[in-house]
Amino acid sequence: MSPPEDSIRTLLDPAELAAIARRLGGELRRDYPDGVVLVALLKGSVCFLADLVREMPGPLEIDFLALSAYGDGQTRVRVVKDLDLEVADRDVVVVLDIVDTGLTLAYLLRLIALRGARSTAACALLDRQSRRLLPVELRYVGRVIADEHVVGYGLDLDERYRNLPALQVADETELRAEPDVMFERLARR
Ligand code: IMP
Ligand code: MG
Repeated sequence: MSPPEDSIRTLLDPAELAAIARRLGGELRRDYPDGVVLVALLKGSVCFLADLVREMPGPLEIDFLALSAYGDGQTRVRVVKDLDLEVADRDVVVVLDIVDTGLTLAYLLRLIALRGARSTAACALLDRQSRRLLPVELRYVGRVIADEHVVGYGLDLDERYRNLPALQVADETELRAEPDVMFERLARR
């Protein structure tokens, strides 16, 4: 028997996501009037980045970085796609989909600091504080969320669901078991 439809919930609809991008874009614009390098972490942050930069008329550069987890319990990360831009003496803001344990963000901030950035800060659409393992300073936050897996607006489960226009929560077992059926149900919301 399939569980009730209300095992699916919309966390942030497109209008709410747009409002977050507008608010954070405004804060970044105010804090970096002379320009900034936005370093977006692939792939989850792409929708957020696309909305964010369009709320930031003014000097800015964009770059991308991809990391991959490895090792015992996937607790170590390495660079699989490096930056193209030189960040020495630049003000850099890292843009992420979600900060969970904080391991990814801590690694990124250290990497960018080692490259000689003048300043670093972090901007995340979502903050799941309850699972933090490393203390990290997150200056720009879209929304603090509870300990549940979210998909859509760039965020995935096993590379699926990134193209849903809203951020949604659904049962992880179901999302894995029946991705096509679940995509249809989520997209109908
Ligand atoms: P952290 O190193 O534990 O903070 O991991 C953050 C990364 O895990 C994010 O950049 C996401 O790619 C991924 N992630 C964590 N939680 C979720 C989620 O609920 N949905 C999709 N991806 C997630
Ligand atoms: Mg992922």
